[in-house]
Amino acid sequence: MFTIILLRPILAVLTWWVHRRHTHPYDDEHASIYGKKHSPGSQYSVMERKIFDVLEHHTIIEGGVVLDAGGGTGNFAERLLEEGAEKVYLYDHSAEMLSIATTRLAKFGNCAVVWQAGLEDEIRLEDGTVDCILCIQALHYIEDWNVTAAEFFRVLKDGGCVVVVTTHPAADSVFRGIGPYFEHEKRKAFLTSGGKLWPIMFWHRPLEAILVPFLSAGFVIADIREPYLDISQSHPWWDITGLLFRHFPPYLIFALRK
Ligand SMILES: C[S@@+](CC[C@H](N)C(=O)[O-])C[C@H]1O[C@@H](n2cnc3c(N)ncnc32)[C@H](O)[C@@H]1O
Repeated sequence: MFTIILLRPILAVLTWWVHRRHTHPYDDEHASIYGKKHSPGSQYSVMERKIFDVLEHHTIIEGGVVLDAGGGTGNFAERLLEEGAEKVYLYDHSAEMLSIATTRLAKFGNCAVVWQAGLEDEIRLEDGTVDCILCIQALHYIEDWNVTAAEFFRVLKDGGCVVVVTTHPAADSVFRGIGPYFEHEKRKAFLTSGGKLWPIMFWHRPLEAILVPFLSAGFVIADIREPYLDISQSHPWWDITGLLFRHFPPYLIFALRK
């Protein structure tokens, strides 16, 4: 813990320095990185296992109709279809991500349906048609979650569930010592990928602001987890993210039921 306290000012300075040097939006540059097969020890694979644990606990994938909102390159959609989902809908606003998703999911024919849209938009599905919705590491890009939560509620069947993964609300304020916890504001953070640091823009919000849009839409909380990620082996020596993740949860996973 003492090491972490010492590291916080270093992290704050490092973040400031990286942000001055880089301006590329992470996701626009990284469709191909998301699209690749991730090694079993990588942060992505470790998280994927944790997310599937929650998903399998709250829904039956086999024969189900799933919506992957902000589904990127289709990693989760592919696995869901391999595990027997009857149909997977995927939308995302990035053309680069969707081009990889379309190629990857082509083998499933019309069981996979992909389109370009924003999380802020009305969803192109009828009321009560989906068993489960996944929204993984995408909501932090948008400011207002009210429309998204209401749309998720509308397209879900009664008893259906949503699994959301988002940045832990304490990740930057408390763990890295950057910015006040209670604010709902746009911030920058940096990620390591391909041996480089990349900045991302995201909306920080406290826990209450994460949950209230869903509760207001009519959902009840079915599950909430702060996954422990020991991924230090898969990070380069100079990247203290691995060390940090052994002490703090970088993500929050929660399930909501209609
Ligand atoms: C970190 S990636 C996660 C992708 C996918 N959910 C996964 O776990 O592999 C974030 C995704 O959110 C998408 N995204 C960002 N802002 C969005 C928005 N406003 N509407 C829809 N998708 C968005 C990005 O294009 C990107 O594919």
